[in-house]
Amino acid sequence: MKHPRTILITGGGTGIGLAMAKRFVTAGDQVIIVGRRESVLQEATKQLSQNQQDDAPTGYVATDLSSSKGVMALRQALPEKGVKSIDVLINNAGGSIQRRGDSLEDIAEQFTQNYEANVLSAVLTTEALKDILASPDGRVINLSSIGALKGGGPAYSAAKAAVIGYSYALANELGAKQITVNVIAPGYVSDTEFFGDTLTPERHESLIAQTLLKRPGTPQDIAGMAFFLASEEASYITGQVLQVLGGALVR
Ligand SMILES: NC(=O)c1ccc[n+]([C@@H]2O[C@H](COP(=O)([O-])OP(=O)(O)OC[C@H]3O[C@@H](n4cnc5c(N)ncnc54)[C@H](OP(=O)(O)O)[C@@H]3O)[C@@H](O)[C@H]2O)c1
Repeated sequence: MKHPRTILITGGGTGIGLAMAKRFVTAGDQVIIVGRRESVLQEATKQLSQNQQDDAPTGYVATDLSSSKGVMALRQALPEKGVKSIDVLINNAGGSIQRRGDSLEDIAEQFTQNYEANVLSAVLTTEALKDILASPDGRVINLSSIGALKGGGPAYSAAKAAVIGYSYALANELGAKQITVNVIAPGYVSDTEFFGDTLTPERHESLIAQTLLKRPGTPQDIAGMAFFLASEEASYITGQVLQVLGGALVR
């Protein structure tokens, strides 16, 4: 496997994605982070540059990955960032989009928006960058959720389940090129923007109580799994869903 590698992390400006970016930058890799808010990406890049190696600069692209136009903008921006090929693509952008209302229109809108944010963002980004994924030894890592495995918010859980289905198909397609495709399914991870200001202390405690380890996951817990899946040691692991959720599904 070559070094330094080029790692593209969507949603890399905050939370889990930023922890992943820090993990790879610290190992000397070149990291490109993507998100919609330029100011957030600028601040994250400043933090990352404190750990970066001279020959592996970090960069960012501000764009909305839920539309084909936004993803094309990412593709077109990569040459000016010095990116010719991508060793590790991490489709981490996403989240749970909550909307009030229970009319059929409200439900359709909620499912569509969660699908766009979590599924289309991963699918369009991967399809746009597929021809520059390193082969052999390329990696695609997609972020799903405990919600896909046990249910949760209906629209978000359904979207994160679709990420798994897409990943199986992609692993099948890219396997012969020695590109692995895996999914990380986190449980409750604190210290991210995921819950915004909607998480009550009671909900926080009940999510912790569901784990066997009696603590929330950290962004670093998820970053550690991504770093492993990107490594040489994980070269024979593909088409898998790796749960990083403190045993929350074991009873
Ligand atoms: N935290 C948890 O408990 C948990 C549990 C299971 C799974 N996950 C999954 O883990 C991933 C990371 O979440 P997190 O907890 O780190 O939350 P987060 O801090 O909200 O991170 C999500 C990131 O995705 C970016 N993003 C969202 N929509 C985007 C779009 N359309 N185009 C480009 N970028 C977009 C956001 O930046 P902008 O807003 O600037 O675009 C943000 O940086 C998500 O896929 C989430 O569903 C989280």
